[in-house]
Amino acid sequence: MVSFPGLYRRAVHHWRGIVTLLILARAAFYVIYPDEFGRFFDLIVFALLLVFIAGQIFWIKRMIDFVGRFLPSGIGRTRLAVIAVLIYLFVYACSYPGIQSTNDHIFRTNYDRPLTVVTEALFWWWFVGSMLAFFLVLVFGAGDYAARAATWMYTKIRETRREQANAEISTPAWHSRRRFLKQSAVLVSATPFVAAGYGLLYGRKNVEVVRQRVPLARLPKGFDGFRIAQLSDIHMGPFTTGDYIRRCVEITNGMKPDLIALTGDYIAWDPGLESRVVSVLASLRAPHGVFGCLGNHEEESETEAYVSGLFTAQGVRILRQERTLIRLGGDELNLIGIDCPRAQSEQDEEEEYRRDVNRRLHGQLVIPGTVNILLSHEPSDFVFDRAADLGIDLMLAGHTHGGQLALKFVHRGLNLSHLLNRYTSGWYEQRSTKLYVNRGIGTTGFPIRLGARPEITVLELVRT
Ligand SMILES: [Fe+2]
Repeated sequence: MVSFPGLYRRAVHHWRGIVTLLILARAAFYVIYPDEFGRFFDLIVFALLLVFIAGQIFWIKRMIDFVGRFLPSGIGRTRLAVIAVLIYLFVYACSYPGIQSTNDHIFRTNYDRPLTVVTEALFWWWFVGSMLAFFLVLVFGAGDYAARAATWMYTKIRETRREQANAEISTPAWHSRRRFLKQSAVLVSATPFVAAGYGLLYGRKNVEVVRQRVPLARLPKGFDGFRIAQLSDIHMGPFTTGDYIRRCVEITNGMKPDLIALTGDYIAWDPGLESRVVSVLASLRAPHGVFGCLGNHEEESETEAYVSGLFTAQGVRILRQERTLIRLGGDELNLIGIDCPRAQSEQDEEEEYRRDVNRRLHGQLVIPGTVNILLSHEPSDFVFDRAADLGIDLMLAGHTHGGQLALKFVHRGLNLSHLLNRYTSGWYEQRSTKLYVNRGIGTTGFPIRLGARPEITVLELVRT
């Protein structure tokens, strides 16, 4: 009979083969069911799954090797491997509600028990850390192959010139340098684990107040210098607590904005938290009021009417395909809010979504000759296009969380959300319409932020 440790050893030994087999299996699936081919997102998910599987095998083996060095020789590698896999399965099983919610947008109540929170935090730390680290391993691996190929070619060229190249290249100095480089590569590859820990424990709550000046051509004189604070993607849940949201509310109030705009997603996965998040946000104060729109988490948890009622009772107005005039002296601004547009069926999804955008963001909401500001949770292409068609001056959105993992210092498009969204953070412009995408203050999926700090925006409107 084949034992479990034996199976594990074989899996580790043949991981490249296993991943290749999975690729071939998927390719065969596409050949058998050609209609499924072409779903770009599916392919990305599959590629990530392969990287994930290969990465897990790679890092668990490294961990076992590392821990094995510090343990008495009596404890064999096989026993360590079994312990590692059991711990892995335990953490995975405890984190399952959160993983399932993330993958399938499942809303459920009371899953924030302390054990689940700790194991989920551990799981996501390991998940993000090991994935990023394995990407680095792949990069180093590719570099190593390229260097070897270059060396081989170099050797061949020198051989043909009869200059004893082989002897030089295979000197002990060369080999020890390669060994040193290999060890350095593994060490550098492990840094994402530290980074993921930072993003989990600190980066996730390291709020940044972003001040932006917004030049608007037809802004009435009375509104010159008018300040709007924007809060988005609150996502109250196990990792976005009432205390943290309260701190964000205090920071926002401390900025003394004239008006506060909330751009949706008030809960993570627990509809039972809507009343708690609303009671915390009820402390927001601005002389011209607090207004908001709803996010996809309200739409998918079917709490849109319920949460709007809760906000209304606290004096916060949620604009649902509605507009309201903000008056200052004799001048006016038109503030519009829409719910998340949706397609009802998967057939003809794009066209249905576009129709829903047009239905929600209809022409009567816009007042010509006035500055029109739109609150829309999702910064989708269709909503932005529609806003530009209607001549809306400024659109405020959220939804993307700035990708949560981003390399903004390289390029602002280098973030996870960019796989699904064109507009992911900051400013975009189309004709005379400006779009600002706020990174939000909460998280969903993994409770980690790296390179995409939580954000409270203060937008100062100025005349041009
Ligand atoms: Fe969100």
